[in-house]
Amino acid sequence: MKTMHLAVAGASGQLGTLVVNELIRQRAIHPGMALTAITRTPGHHAAWQEQGIDVRFGDYDQPQGLAAAFHGVERLLLISTNAIDGTGRRLEQHRHAIAAARLAGVDHIVYTSFLQPEEGKTSLLNDDHLATEALLQESGIGHTILRNAFYQDLLLVVLGTAAMDGQLRTAMGQGHVSCVAREDCAHAAAAALAADYRGNRILDITGPAALDARALAAIAAQVFGKSIEVVALDADSRARHFIAAGMPASMATMLAGIERWLATDAMHLVSDDFTRLTGRQASPVQAFLQAHRRQLLAPTLPPA
Ligand SMILES: NC(=O)c1ccc[n+]([C@@H]2O[C@H](COP(=O)([O-])OP(=O)(O)OC[C@H]3O[C@@H](n4cnc5c(N)ncnc54)[C@H](OP(=O)(O)O)[C@@H]3O)[C@@H](O)[C@H]2O)c1
Repeated sequence: MKTMHLAVAGASGQLGTLVVNELIRQRAIHPGMALTAITRTPGHHAAWQEQGIDVRFGDYDQPQGLAAAFHGVERLLLISTNAIDGTGRRLEQHRHAIAAARLAGVDHIVYTSFLQPEEGKTSLLNDDHLATEALLQESGIGHTILRNAFYQDLLLVVLGTAAMDGQLRTAMGQGHVSCVAREDCAHAAAAALAADYRGNRILDITGPAALDARALAAIAAQVFGKSIEVVALDADSRARHFIAAGMPASMATMLAGIERWLATDAMHLVSDDFTRLTGRQASPVQAFLQAHRRQLLAPTLPPA
């Protein structure tokens, strides 16, 4: 059997780590995979190296070394970076990665995009993903675009102190959101990478339901056994509230901006692409909240 050379770029991030570990698990069942992890911090991954993973340095801000990092790779997972600062840096990073993949002769790129990127709508979330999807089209490299919905994991921040004070403050208005677990996004990415699909496709990776703030509050109320009311805020007040709770201003503004984006119903789509790709059911919000109940009862802000 021919060995397929798969690589995860951005392997040290939360999603990347989950994908590498899932591929290690799959490799144990279906040998015939060579695995490479590409990251800015290869020195942190002795454990992966001990499991036969080729760990390489790669930084999209240093494009001169990237083609060497991608050498020999047939299928590459390109995880969108977290340089979400409105300067255009993230798009440049993705441009460098796609150019290097082309130079290295990568056959197929799996890219983690965001649900419902739309022409004519501008936001920090929309623009880089739309432009990166266009770069992939132009590259001529076969690609699978995974349009991931809003992570359920972000509910740990969005719900804030709701489990304690019974108030779900939000700027998402009447919008709906089809939150998906980061872990499910990792299963989708691993499946798309290990598949033998060679054309160009776009898959919407969503949770099983689109929920508005009232539905989220009702699920949270059920999980916490207390009533939770929705307190509607505009985005500026929401950002001020995050900051008052100790969140750095840049992150507060970004999260409030995401909620304002959700208010336009920009992420309501529900798809069964996840199930068709992985053979699993996407995990519902209720299961996520139940699993993180203790954390939500003693919330701490995530690092900036
Ligand atoms: N769907 C959602 O709700 C949602 C939420 C948050 C983020 N996202 C997006 O999904 C991505 C993965 O999520 P996550 O939770 O794993 O985020 P994360 O833990 O913050 O990971 C950040 C990722 O960016 C990579 N990165 C940053 N700068 C880079 C550079 N100069 N060159 C190469 N790679 C670079 C990191 O790779 P290394 O550290 O390995 O170099 C890592 O994979 C994020 O980066 C973001 O674009 C989506």
